[in-house]
Amino acid sequence: MTPLLRSSASRSWRPQSLSSICASRLVRARFLATTSATHETKPYYVTTPIFYVNAAPHAGHLYTMVLADVLKRWQVLKGRKAVLLTGTDEHGMKIQQASAKAGSDPKPFCDKGADIFKNLAARAELSNDHFIRTTDPDHKEAVEYAWHLLNERGYIYQSKHEGWYSVSDETFYPESQVHLVLDPPTGRKVMASIETGKEVEWTSEINYHFRLSAFRDKLLAYYAENPEWITPQAKMKEIVSAVSAGLEDLSISRPSSRLTWGIRVPTDPTQTIYVWLDALINYATAAGYPWAPGSEHTGGWPADVQIIGKDILRFHCIYWPAFLMALDLPLPKRFLTHAHWTLGKQKMAKSTGNVVNPFFALDRFGTDTMRYYMIHDGGIDNDADYDNIHIIERYKKGLQGGIGNLTARITRGKGWNVRRAIERFSGDYKSASPFGQGHAREAAIAEFEQLLVEFPQAVNSRMEALRPNLALKGLMDNIYAANAFLQSQAPWDIAAGLKKGELVPNASSKEDAELQMDYIIFLSTEILRLAGIMLQPVMPAKAKQLLDMLGVADDRRGFADAQLGVDKDYGVSRVPQGKGQAGVLFAPLMSDS
Ligand code: ME8
Ligand code: MG
Repeated sequence: MTPLLRSSASRSWRPQSLSSICASRLVRARFLATTSATHETKPYYVTTPIFYVNAAPHAGHLYTMVLADVLKRWQVLKGRKAVLLTGTDEHGMKIQQASAKAGSDPKPFCDKGADIFKNLAARAELSNDHFIRTTDPDHKEAVEYAWHLLNERGYIYQSKHEGWYSVSDETFYPESQVHLVLDPPTGRKVMASIETGKEVEWTSEINYHFRLSAFRDKLLAYYAENPEWITPQAKMKEIVSAVSAGLEDLSISRPSSRLTWGIRVPTDPTQTIYVWLDALINYATAAGYPWAPGSEHTGGWPADVQIIGKDILRFHCIYWPAFLMALDLPLPKRFLTHAHWTLGKQKMAKSTGNVVNPFFALDRFGTDTMRYYMIHDGGIDNDADYDNIHIIERYKKGLQGGIGNLTARITRGKGWNVRRAIERFSGDYKSASPFGQGHAREAAIAEFEQLLVEFPQAVNSRMEALRPNLALKGLMDNIYAANAFLQSQAPWDIAAGLKKGELVPNASSKEDAELQMDYIIFLSTEILRLAGIMLQPVMPAKAKQLLDMLGVADDRRGFADAQLGVDKDYGVSRVPQGKGQAGVLFAPLMSDS
């Protein structure tokens, strides 16, 4: 990153007219020519939506944040520099009205709201590199600059606009997308969006328009060339058919007399820029837009993956790429669109108050458990119903019964020494294996070895396919398989035989029996080490605790280390392994025990 550039060159710059912009860009270009040797390669760039501060966050916002964080941390695990952006969307009619209702000026109202989202990110252990607010001065500059360019390139014109506007959705709907409904609480008949059910109001005003219709063919060509652009596929199809059906030009300003809370149109202070144009540009602002020539990629743009809820698909996958095309900027590489959390089968939403307070949930169950639950149960294709019972079930089955139990069985087992097992077999485990051809346990051991060999790529390919839920479920299936393996191989029986000095079945000698026991321990410990490494993006604190218990060195915790037999140096716990709760990875839940 080049903080130098942003602070010295672009932050001090104020767009007056396009010619002064061009002059300032030229100055920066010359400045860059002498510094380009210091440019790094583009970091992997992940974004969440920026959230409206009209009300406090709920578990749905936590979910998007955690999904994005897991995808970022996965790249870091693989040794890539990665950047995560989250933040708040603070302008527009919705915020103007919410602050008025709260009896506050908009800015202090937004300051409070932004702080709550910041706290949520911190409480959820989000590794965000930026927290952008659309009221930040550098964002205002970026939006003004973009407006100038769009205008200069002929994509903006002024005309009368008549239509139905939803403040809650911050969008105009065409006549075909609204209908008359009865509002049960008041008994009034109101016009509402068919899609979202939100009330709309008739507006008739002069404002600026963006020539969205001019981008129909270009967008369709882009979608055709990039059929994997949106995950899941169903959403890609939705967008293609929506754009195929035709695009109307987009109103991109409102009279300042109505909408005061926003960024003014730089050439016309009687108009305020439409909140979605303002908001979408945040992803570029945080990556340092407007970029000086030569530093377009240092901040991360184009984003590698933008994560959004399905509610804001159209804004991100039609308007945003059209704006970017008009600005001659590269498009984000991929979108992950997730489904919604429901509560009692109704969408969790700030506007209805049908919500789970994420702070309470994090306090009650702990950050890592909540991150696990959100990724494990959260919907990508289909909505998921939030339920405390499910959190407790997942905790008991996956964390306590799965990972916790396997860890305790291995690290607290009496008859063996984990370090000795690792020392004996890490490295060339295959040729050192005591389970040669024809051994009674040969098939079961070979099957488990194969599972371990395939394990890392199986998780990685699902993460790369933007399916962290499937990656986690696959990982957990391997943990369950490891517990079953341990159960059937019963190394404790070998240990008991050795202790009593009895002959162990299918062992040629005492030494051979010990080797067999150690090999079973070696494989079972390896699955924990691999799982511990790969769980770091999902449960940073618990995975660290597990790796500490296994005695894995800090610099041996990358994805490259998640391979059977590559770490010869671990196996001595770095934390006290006392009796009782000391050294227990997943204690019984307080509320349930
Ligand atoms: O739309 N389940 O902000 P917003 C899962 N400011 N995720 C949910 C959810 C639910 N029930 N409800 C909300 C905006 N979300 C704009 C975005 S971006 C340039 C501007 C999450 O506060 C999900 O990510 O309404 C959804 O897309 C987002 O919050 C909407 O947040
Ligand atoms: Mg919303």
